[in-house]
Amino acid sequence: MASEVSILGRLQESDPGRERPKRPSIVQVESPALSTRNVNARYGSFLALRNVSMSAPLGEITAIIGPSGCGKSTLLRSLNRINDLIPSFTLEGEVMVGDQNVYDSGVDVASLRRRVGMLFQRPAPFPMSIYDNVVYSLRLDGRQSKAVLDETVERCLQQTALWDEVKDRLKAAATGLSGGQQQRLCLARTLAAGSDIILMDEPCAALDPISTLRIEELMRELCGTVTIIIVTHNLQQAARVSDYTAFMLMGEGRAGELVELGRTDEMFADPVDKRTEDYITGRFG
Ligand SMILES: Nc1ncnc2c1ncn2[C@@H]1O[C@H](COP(=O)(O)OP(=O)(O)OP(=O)(O)O)[C@@H](O)[C@H]1O
Ligand SMILES: [Mg+2]
Repeated sequence: MASEVSILGRLQESDPGRERPKRPSIVQVESPALSTRNVNARYGSFLALRNVSMSAPLGEITAIIGPSGCGKSTLLRSLNRINDLIPSFTLEGEVMVGDQNVYDSGVDVASLRRRVGMLFQRPAPFPMSIYDNVVYSLRLDGRQSKAVLDETVERCLQQTALWDEVKDRLKAAATGLSGGQQQRLCLARTLAAGSDIILMDEPCAALDPISTLRIEELMRELCGTVTIIIVTHNLQQAARVSDYTAFMLMGEGRAGELVELGRTDEMFADPVDKRTEDYITGRFG
């Protein structure tokens, strides 16, 4: 992670006619946690994603940036098949988690969504206690002892830096927590469910700056053990928190395309594609 000053400073001085770096515009990593190959996604006849091939390195944080409507959420929601819930949604191509195409027939979608968990813009705790939220999926398995549930609650709330704040009121309603606490609780719930890939769609958009920083700190602590893909409108956040950045843009017919994917420090200091440079220096549109 480079500092914000170096990231945004160097580019503003750059010469528009400069030579571009020779790196590939879309970096492919070896053994990614998750990858897509030639994904086209549609809502009815509308093509929302065109030919997206991306990969998310194992144990690292990948940020997805790009203007509103370019398909960031559609891409994210395709990765754990949450978009299957939209009847008009169809997808061609492959989404690989490890060596499994998650769109193969016979894939257990419920297990997939546990393994590839999700945080949304508005924290969405279930209308039940803090404790019950964390152990929700373990209870669905129906075979966990109270000792295992207790241990999981403490471990996952410790991991999300919430334990000290809530240990005396585990049976209180989760909806009584602050927005930032609710988002950390939702993160604890995905960890308890066993997610090792976590998708986050603007998880800090509804949070104040201090709660935002706490989530970012947690993301840095968790990466290594989990792989994180985060959609963010906040370029500084992408620069601060991510190891890799994917830049998307609307192409022909307003279909979302992946323009560039690379190491965050390299992309922000020296983008390969002129369109990436225009976007991250604020010259876009
Ligand atoms: N359920 C839906 N039905 C039909 N079209 C949709 C649906 N969801 C999204 N779209 C369309 O797909 C395109 C991509 O939307 P998407 O929400 O993925 O963009 P985004 O990059 O996440 O935008 P934002 O930054 O505003 O959240 C848009 O043109 C949008 O109108
Ligand atoms: Mg979105």
